[in-house]
Amino acid sequence: MLIAGNWKMNTDVSSSVELARGVIQESEHAGAVNVAVCPPAPLLSVVGEALAGSHVRLGAQNMYWVDSGAFTGEISAQMLSSLGCHYVIVGHSERRQYFGETDVEVNKKVRQSVKAGLVPIICVGERLNQRKAGKEQEVVAAQVQHALEGMEVRASDSFVIAYEPVWAIGTGETATPEQAQGMHKFIRTLVRQQFGNQIADGLHILYGGSMKPSNAEELLIQNDVDGGLIGGASLKADIFGQIIQAAQKL
Ligand code: 13P
Repeated sequence: MLIAGNWKMNTDVSSSVELARGVIQESEHAGAVNVAVCPPAPLLSVVGEALAGSHVRLGAQNMYWVDSGAFTGEISAQMLSSLGCHYVIVGHSERRQYFGETDVEVNKKVRQSVKAGLVPIICVGERLNQRKAGKEQEVVAAQVQHALEGMEVRASDSFVIAYEPVWAIGTGETATPEQAQGMHKFIRTLVRQQFGNQIADGLHILYGGSMKPSNAEELLIQNDVDGGLIGGASLKADIFGQIIQAAQKL
């Protein structure tokens, strides 16, 4: 089980450190649950320092796919790994939607992150109109297949997939446990076809989209839901802590 907080474009130097300390406290009894936080890039360093010695892992929210060079404003995978990042979120729907990130770019980022020893959290998910048209599996299959194309996978923990239906992100609306389970099972089947049983069975497939303490348990209890990628509810340590506890009970 993996519970990861995506802080998006929130917090600053002092509040990020305070939140990180709170998350450490909340996850002291997390047991076998892996906990991660993904602060904004300029705060990775201070949050990384705050997390030192704890078992809460650090993740970034984005990266560029080139080793180094004249790419003003971009961040390389190597920079992230030198900052102590374990994870990097790739292909979040907000990046696809507001910054025009394509499946081809997502694939380049996935391959570069793995090459640098990072674990990409690859985000996929359909929009509301696509679900209404009954095309959610088609959309997600294309995103998963593009993202994983040509990726070298050695172990089931070398990447993570997050199913985040766009209509459930930041809207307060959540996929039902059945909708989440159905899509997660489908994603695992796609991974099985490409990488075989061992990778597919060990893979963490996270659910994201308005996960909160009141719905965490019913989602996390599903067979193919192996954790959560949490936005809004990860910005308060005690609320995030309640989700960690829900995971820990299962
Ligand atoms: P919310 O939990 O705020 O809906 O955000 C989900 C998300 O986008 C996590 O990456």
